[in-house]
Amino acid sequence: MATLFDIPPKSDPKLLYAREKELHDLVGHLKNRRWVVLLGPRRVGKTSLAKCAIKQFGHDSITLDARENSDFLASLSSTLGSSSSALNISATATVPKLPFLSVGANYSKQIAKQNLDSILKRKSKLIVLLDEAQWFRNPRTFVRLLAHIYDYHYDTVTPIITGSAVGVMKSILDPNNKSPLYGRPMIEMEVKKWVPSSSIGFLSEGLKQNKLSLDEDYKVQTVEILDGIPGWLTMFGYHFTQNPKDYDKALSITLAEAINIVSEETRNISKLARGWPSHLRILENLISGSKTFTELVEATNQNNASLSRHLDILQRLSYVEKNDEDRYIILDPILREFLKEHFGTKISKRVDPAH
Ligand SMILES: Nc1ncnc2c1ncn2[C@@H]1O[C@H](COP(=O)(O)OP(=O)(O)OP(=O)(O)O)[C@@H](O)[C@H]1O
Ligand SMILES: [Mg+2]
Repeated sequence: MATLFDIPPKSDPKLLYAREKELHDLVGHLKNRRWVVLLGPRRVGKTSLAKCAIKQFGHDSITLDARENSDFLASLSSTLGSSSSALNISATATVPKLPFLSVGANYSKQIAKQNLDSILKRKSKLIVLLDEAQWFRNPRTFVRLLAHIYDYHYDTVTPIITGSAVGVMKSILDPNNKSPLYGRPMIEMEVKKWVPSSSIGFLSEGLKQNKLSLDEDYKVQTVEILDGIPGWLTMFGYHFTQNPKDYDKALSITLAEAINIVSEETRNISKLARGWPSHLRILENLISGSKTFTELVEATNQNNASLSRHLDILQRLSYVEKNDEDRYIILDPILREFLKEHFGTKISKRVDPAH
């Protein structure tokens, strides 16, 4: 039986926990043909929300994951080709022509557009999920094609764009007046971490589905350590179901796996975000806890202007957030653990709750 602790992104709205409002809003936007950019930290559930909304909306869809294929045209072409029968489009129109396009040549771009136009001229709606769009290379081509789809296929084709590295998606979110997307508004929706009560509710519900139980103290501790990041909580739930007698083991496997994932992602982000060494210096200073802007100026030796620029990017990357007291904190506890290892700081021993 499918449960909340299944690792792949959820696509069944029944398994989408505590996102009722977001789901309702997103489906509403799809009905109104509005283009939505879903933003949020890694593992928060952007893909799950998008897939569940598409399922609830009930029309055809294709998914292009920029992490799997960073060439937008090639990815669109091969996905349309492989889904041609499901989408009721002619495979010959898509497969042979689009893949050998050289994006550099105007002539090819023209053919690409013509092909796209013939494929996308549909009677029924098509939702195109552009997942983790910041990894599409050649953002200018990407943006130009989006503008073309906006202008010529608005009635039938509606993209949902997701991204966690918002800083590099500025050309989509905030196009300047020279951008092809200028004047074509998109709706930004933020997917946030769960509050502790939702995280504990998620663990309780998932355990119940798996006919397991866990002391309340352990649930609270798990949420204190993994915070309200659905991906880490799902991973813990999965490992605990594999080994229900050993809570500590499930938690330590989860932490080790999660730190590996964050380490790999940070390596990728460091290539994408300019000024990474300065970002890293800020993050290093936040390992021990929250800091005000003034405290960070002192600790990092950066002037006000450059610190505020770097903090802005770190917030756009969902690495850092500002709390209610205007103090900066690292958003993901796993990122903090990774940074501790990275900078060789001793990881503090956690206090076990009473057994
Ligand atoms: N609301 C939810 N209910 C149940 N499970 C969820 C929910 N949101 C996310 N998950 C689970 O958390 C994990 C991460 O979800 P998902 O891949 O949708 O997040 P994401 O924000 O797209 O992550 P990434 O940054 O890796 O692309 C998956 O295992 C998914 O099944
Ligand atoms: Mg995703």
